[in-house]
Amino acid sequence: MRKKVTKAIFPVAGLGTRFLPATKSVPKEIMTLVDRPLVQYAIDECRAAGIKEFIFVTSRGKGALEDYFDVAPTLEQELQKKDKTELLEILKATNMDSGEIAYIRQHKALGLGHAIWCARRLVGDEPFAVVLPDDVIAAEKPCLQQMVEAYEETGGNMVAAMEVPTEKTKSYGVLDVDEDMGSIVKVKGMVEKPEPEDAPSNLAVIGRYILSPQIFENLNQKKTGAGGEIQLTDAIAEEIGKDDGGVYGFRFRGQRFDCGSKSGFLQATVAFGLARDELRDDLEGYLTELMASRKAAE
Ligand code: UTP
Repeated sequence: MRKKVTKAIFPVAGLGTRFLPATKSVPKEIMTLVDRPLVQYAIDECRAAGIKEFIFVTSRGKGALEDYFDVAPTLEQELQKKDKTELLEILKATNMDSGEIAYIRQHKALGLGHAIWCARRLVGDEPFAVVLPDDVIAAEKPCLQQMVEAYEETGGNMVAAMEVPTEKTKSYGVLDVDEDMGSIVKVKGMVEKPEPEDAPSNLAVIGRYILSPQIFENLNQKKTGAGGEIQLTDAIAEEIGKDDGGVYGFRFRGQRFDCGSKSGFLQATVAFGLARDELRDDLEGYLTELMASRKAAE
């Protein structure tokens, strides 16, 4: 029997420089899409996938993130007094039970691989998920749930993958495909941020992973890869071709928004706004008017 995936690591210790000056005081993961912080979308996706323990790798200045998951008794009392039951329910859904969430510090931003390695003792000897909250995925069935189901078939290590335009490969880890089975692909190589002419495919890795504990061993060697950081891709690539492991890419069904970039964040705001019944008409009306007036001005 394969061990169930019940723990997820959220590496959120990066500097978030693309959103300065906002990220000087607001952690990127707390920035809101409509009325919920990015991290809430990630938590909901994890719960749907059966995750029970949430491990955050944080850094200095991420206090707002810890506060967000705390109980807010005064606020809850006020809402109760005013009979705002619906809001109260929304608020309560953000609380974490004691012991369900853990925070660990990455003292230096040495890269994504290093951030994951920091959580090794909290995960122990079992498969685990890694979720980057700034990759937000709109999907009928939450992306990580799709992956957990696929992982039950494959085992090993699994990375979420999507087709990107060839000129964009240098922003991603890119898969070299051994066998394409449709939604699941068997991987024979991984290249971090290749120039388009060096990219083995246009199947790019995005921020959802299911990994075996062997990855911690690989990270232990703290190899320095592209850009001087400790790369997670390198540690995963070491598992390629192993009989008891292997690496699989998973083409998820859904739309991914890169909320770590300004353009992606704005697109997600519009898309998630339009998806909300109470906002759709207003927002759609505004966008239509805006586009018409821009066209007329051309
Ligand atoms: P990014 O490459 O998006 O970096 O990291 P960043 O610092 O968040 O943002 P920019 O590029 O400066 O604007 C991808 C993920 O890895 C985490 C980040 O928090 C983010 O979730 N990370 C990165 C760490 O936890 N530690 C690191 O040392 C580096």
